[in-house]
Amino acid sequence: MNEPTQIKVWDPMIRLFHWALVASFAAAYLSEDDWMSVHVVAGYTLLGLLLFRVVWGLVGPRHARFSDFVRPPWEVMAYLKDLAAMRARRYIGHNPAGAAMILALLISLLLSSLTGLGAYGAEGAGPFKDWFFDLNAVGKEALEEIHEFFANFTLFLVAVHIGGVMLGSLLHGENLVRAMFTGSKRG
Ligand code: HEM
Repeated sequence: MNEPTQIKVWDPMIRLFHWALVASFAAAYLSEDDWMSVHVVAGYTLLGLLLFRVVWGLVGPRHARFSDFVRPPWEVMAYLKDLAAMRARRYIGHNPAGAAMILALLISLLLSSLTGLGAYGAEGAGPFKDWFFDLNAVGKEALEEIHEFFANFTLFLVAVHIGGVMLGSLLHGENLVRAMFTGSKRG
């Protein structure tokens, strides 16, 4: 019997970006309480990765581009309805609900990183120290709370993202996680 054709979907930069993002978020989240130097390096790395992803979403190959996967809300809703009935169609790139989650993850990670830089500035360090060092104790506390909120919200989104990846893999009998390592999917 012939093997089904494999097609390249995720370019090497996207795969590297994805797993570096996972590692940096994990490092930032786990080091938060008592390993500040690691936390700061992981936060800057996250920010760099996010900036790269925005550029790659504009100039990268087909399936990396925002224009390839960002869909209007009604298409996301229609996809979720089909998914609930277990008859959602298969997409080679990101499906509409997966794509909405990707945008949510990128925005939440960006807000986590930027509020982190703000909180770091309030401690008298980093590029925002001149803006935030003079904040009073209540302002500093609020900045830290907001930073923590976005970090925890990102963790919640990650859990839903992993659930969605598992569901999509089951529905179409394919290993989406392996595709994020090899770059290839069944044609
Ligand atoms: C910190 C944790 C994670 C974050 C922030 C994250 C974020 C993302 C982002 C931004 C994308 C879109 C890739 C792109 O086009 O740029 C993506 C896709 C993907 N992620 Fe994650 N991810 C995380 C953890 C995981 C884990 C643990 C797995 C595996 C179990 C996973 C599996 C996948 C897969 C399979 C895709 C491609 C989905 C598709 O086929 O459309 N992710 N993830």
